[in-house]
Amino acid sequence: MSPLKLPEVLADKNQDLSSLILAISNACIGVANQVKNSALEGNLGVTGIINVQGETQQTLDLKANDLFVKICSANPKLAAIVSEEVEEPLWLKEPEKDDFILYIDPLDGSSNLNVDLSVGSIFSITRVGSSDARCVLRSGKHQLAAGYAIYGSSTMFVVSTGRDVQGYTLCVSSGDFILTHPFMTIPKSTSEFAINTSRARFWKSPIRRYVSECTAGEAGPRGQDFNMRWTASMVADVHRILVRGGVFLYPKDTNNQSTGGKIRLLYEANPMAFIVKAAAGRASTGDEDILSISPKSLHQRTSVILGSADEVNLIESYH
Ligand code: AHG
Ligand code: MN
Ligand code: MN
Ligand code: MN
Repeated sequence: MSPLKLPEVLADKNQDLSSLILAISNACIGVANQVKNSALEGNLGVTGIINVQGETQQTLDLKANDLFVKICSANPKLAAIVSEEVEEPLWLKEPEKDDFILYIDPLDGSSNLNVDLSVGSIFSITRVGSSDARCVLRSGKHQLAAGYAIYGSSTMFVVSTGRDVQGYTLCVSSGDFILTHPFMTIPKSTSEFAINTSRARFWKSPIRRYVSECTAGEAGPRGQDFNMRWTASMVADVHRILVRGGVFLYPKDTNNQSTGGKIRLLYEANPMAFIVKAAAGRASTGDEDILSISPKSLHQRTSVILGSADEVNLIESYH
C-alpha cells in the first residue's frame, strides 16, 4: 500500500474543517520555504517593529503571518484570525453559525532563526461562539483541531482533531505531506525535562523542588538520573516530547508574575495542550487544566507544564 497523504487522511472527516486544515498545511509549506531561503532572500533579522508582546518582530515573523492570512482567508468558513503578531482579531467576514476562528503563532522560536535551529508554526481552530459570535476569547475546550509545523531537519505537520495525533513529513520532491508518524503517543513516564534553567532564581518552590529532585539523579528522591533539553522553541520541545516523552515547563515565576508567565494561552498553550492530551499526555498550569482557563484577553499568558502524564501529575502534587 502506498503511504497515505494528508488530504487522503482528512477525506472522511468534516469537509469544512478539513479544507481549513489543508489550507493551513499549504501555508506551512510556504513558511518552510521562507525559513529555508531566508538568508538567500535577505530575510534574516529584525523589522524594528515591536509587536503587542513587547518583542521586536523578525522579518520572518511578519512574512509568515502574512502568508497564513493570505492563504487561509480564502476559506469561506473562516470568520477571524487571531495572531501573535497582530494586536486585534482580523475579521474576514460577518461571523455566521458554524464559521471558524483560527488562532496562530505564525513563527514559533523565532530567536532560533539566525542560528539555523528549529522553528515552527502553531495553530488552533474553534467555531465562533453561539452566544456572542464576535467573542474570540474561547477556552481551549472549544478547540476542534490544533497542530503545528516544525521546520527542522525535515518539515513536519502534526495535527489532531481531538481523538488522536497524526504526524506527516513533507516530501521535498513531491511537495506532499506523507503520514510517517501515525497515532503519536506520549509515554506515561519519562526521564527527560525541558526548562530554561537561567530563570532558576525566579522559580517558585514547586518548580524548585521538582527540578532539584530531577538533577539529584539516582541518589535523590526520584532514584533515577534525568536528562535536560531546552531549544527555546516550544514547537521543537513539544515535538521531542511527542516522539520520545518528556516534560516541558515554562512556569509563572517571580519575574514574570505580572504577565502570568511567558507562553501565550490562545495560540501557544491551548493548541499544545489539546495535542498533548490527544497523545495521552497532560497539560496543566500546576493549579488547573490549561484547557479549562477562561481567557480574559487576546494575548494573555499562562504557566505551562505539559508532557508525560506521570511527571505532570507529580509537579501538580507539589503545588
Ligand atoms: P515566539 O518565538 O513565538 O515568540 O515564542 C517563543 C517562546 C517559546 O517558543 C519558547 O519555549 C520560549 O519562548 C523560549 O523562551 P526563552 O527565551 O525564555 O528560552
Ligand atoms: Mn514572538
Ligand atoms: Mn511562540
Ligand atoms: Mn511566534
